[in-house]
Amino acid sequence: MKVFITKQIPEVGVQRMEAAGHEVVVYDGEQPLSQEALIETCQRFDALVSAGFNKIDRHFLNACKHLKVVSLFSVGYDSVDLNAATQLKIPVGNTPHVLSKATADIAFLLMLNVSRKAFFNYKKILDGKWKGFEPVADLGQELYGKTLGVFGLGDIGFEMAKKCRAAFDMDIIYHNRKPNARAEAQLGARYVSFDALLAQSDVLSVHANFSDQTKGIFDKAAFAKMKPSSIFINTARGGMHDEADLKDALDAGTIWGAGLDVTNPEPMDKENPLMLMPNVCVLPHIGSATKEAREGMAMMAADNVIAALKGDRLPTIVNADIYL
Ligand code: DGY
Repeated sequence: MKVFITKQIPEVGVQRMEAAGHEVVVYDGEQPLSQEALIETCQRFDALVSAGFNKIDRHFLNACKHLKVVSLFSVGYDSVDLNAATQLKIPVGNTPHVLSKATADIAFLLMLNVSRKAFFNYKKILDGKWKGFEPVADLGQELYGKTLGVFGLGDIGFEMAKKCRAAFDMDIIYHNRKPNARAEAQLGARYVSFDALLAQSDVLSVHANFSDQTKGIFDKAAFAKMKPSSIFINTARGGMHDEADLKDALDAGTIWGAGLDVTNPEPMDKENPLMLMPNVCVLPHIGSATKEAREGMAMMAADNVIAALKGDRLPTIVNADIYL
């Protein structure tokens, strides 16, 4: 059968699908395909691997009802209208777990960078502004024994909490849809309300799914409840924080710093004022960008396609309701 991939993915994934007897076509155009072009292209294919956050909404799914699977090259599935996919009985697969450690590494890296203003100080050298040792200039803050608040303690949040506990003996609090027994048993994590998470966290790290419930949840009112010394980290989705409110909170000293691997929109404009702030580090959505994680994702995305094209259940399915 025929599989279309919207962007180049690690070759191991393509080879796996070819070894299973499928014809694989990888889009290699400079510009991302428009939705209409993707719909038209998909008419000639049985399966889609979506590797670039294409909008898989009701319009797309209605026009591509024939697809035997939409296999996402991501753990996040906010690009898909799951209700529509489920109604149309199109299975949607994702790539959990394999990227959790890599993504948590980036959350940890951002936390440490912000706490020591590392990117800002690096830029100072580039700008010729390093004049020598300055006893009181650009002081950071230490993280030992502080409180990490995790918003959305799933696999990635767990890895972040584990690192923070091991490296800095941080206390872990979290807010989730449901309690995480493993984190409570292994890391002594404590479940708290959203307001308590805001009020008690020294570092607040966002790892939740992006949904109507979490869209814009970190806004002016939320930042106002945080400590003036706190650091906000988002490696999940840029749509969960309101960027203007975040900038205001940083300018006003309502919070102390921010580290972002995700922005809204992406890519972020290079003139964005956040890029010049001493207490902010921004990265271009590289959470899962390691060879190991991306190859793991490619294999999982391929396994989802292979299973679907055999008529089997996807190994990692997002809308398992289709099998009810
Ligand atoms: C995901 O998998 O959802 C990430 O954001 C892409 O690395």
